[in-house]
Amino acid sequence: MINKNHGTDYENIRLDRSGQAEAFDVIGDRYDEAFPHKEGQVAAADWLIGSLAAGARVLDLGCGTGVPTARQLADAGFEVVGVDLSGGMVKLAREYVPGATFHQLDLADLRPGGPRDLGRFDAVAAFFSLLMLPRAEIPLALLTVRHLLVPGGLFVLSMVEADVDDFSIPFLGRTIRVSGYLLEDLRKVIETAGFEIAEESSYTYAPAVADVPPEEQVFLCCRRLD
Ligand SMILES: C[S@@+](CC[C@H](N)C(=O)[O-])C[C@H]1O[C@@H](n2cnc3c(N)ncnc32)[C@H](O)[C@@H]1O
Repeated sequence: MINKNHGTDYENIRLDRSGQAEAFDVIGDRYDEAFPHKEGQVAAADWLIGSLAAGARVLDLGCGTGVPTARQLADAGFEVVGVDLSGGMVKLAREYVPGATFHQLDLADLRPGGPRDLGRFDAVAAFFSLLMLPRAEIPLALLTVRHLLVPGGLFVLSMVEADVDDFSIPFLGRTIRVSGYLLEDLRKVIETAGFEIAEESSYTYAPAVADVPPEEQVFLCCRRLD
């Protein structure tokens, strides 16, 4: 069942972003160096490219450095808007992908009735960004994605498969808090938020640095149900 009461729900939780943007401000380019192979992410963006009409408007939520996704989508001729909490990441993204527009924003700012309105999009990508929210907030973020999409709009996301909630981990010399689900539970969360899953893939990924252990990455290609 789709929860239509999302505006109010955001008002009832305290958003704790402490340390999250600061970590990525410092990590910067090292994120891409630690995760050099992005076949799953590139394939999911290719699904968007193959499914969208020329000139479509696409939002990259938690865009990081803009590489590879914002760049891949801009190179495909879409109007790309990227949003990230980290000012450092937004600065890099503007440099690396001059053909897209980037904003330093919290994705919660884009909620229905929230402080920023970037208009509607034909597609939203959220690769490894929703995992930086506590679980209590992930359904609200998904309802924000729904709100940002035109009816029938496309949504691609990736998560790390793990049964954790707001769990502190060492990450590239900093500490960040992450959440995840087992795959079955992730599917339920996505479907409950009003999406149908069209395609799904998983990859076992060993990052190119010692302090990040191997992880199971899940990519979902979804469509907004009306
Ligand atoms: C693991 S990185 C992934 C970056 C990029 N999507 C990629 O796959 O290469 C997560 C990104 O999400 C951003 N982020 C975390 N919480 C966010 C929030 N509440 N709103 C917007 N961006 C956020 C971080 O600053 C970081 O750049």
